[in-house]
Amino acid sequence: MTIERSLVLVKPDGFQRGLTGEVLRRIEAKGYSLVGLSILTPTRGQLAEHYAEHEGKPFYEPLVDFMSSGLVTAAVIEGQDCIKGFRNLAGATNPTDAAPGTIRGDLGRDWGLKVQQNIVHGSDSPESATREIGIWFPDLQG
Ligand code: RTP
Ligand code: MG
Repeated sequence: MTIERSLVLVKPDGFQRGLTGEVLRRIEAKGYSLVGLSILTPTRGQLAEHYAEHEGKPFYEPLVDFMSSGLVTAAVIEGQDCIKGFRNLAGATNPTDAAPGTIRGDLGRDWGLKVQQNIVHGSDSPESATREIGIWFPDLQG
């Protein structure tokens, strides 16, 4: 049993569609706590750090363009095994593949979109969580 922190982003598509509250509701209903919350338009520099692992991939530039195109909600959540737990709440990366009951499965759509606009991001490991929390919430410990 491990109390973890994870970095969650409600991406510009989710923010514009007014889904921030719904995402936060699901996080809190699951029993995770919010320990950081911010609304901002990410800079390309922030996104280059955040998505460093994807640099050079075909979807990288469109992804950074998309993620810097508008407001996002950034949150740090805390709870038992919340890194994997939030990934399970989010569902598969491609909304078409995401199971019903998940955020992407219930609310996501990918038709006609070059970059998957899949509503949320969640850290994928404890190391990623610590690194990402440092990028978005430099005053918080991972
Ligand atoms: P995330 O990082 O956003 O939580 O999503 P993830 O782990 O499920 O997906 P990841 O592989 O880390 O990819 C990051 C984001 O890049 C976009 N993407 N597009 N083939 C494609 O067009 C493609 N693959 C990935 C998605 O927005 C994905 O969430
Ligand atoms: Mg990822």
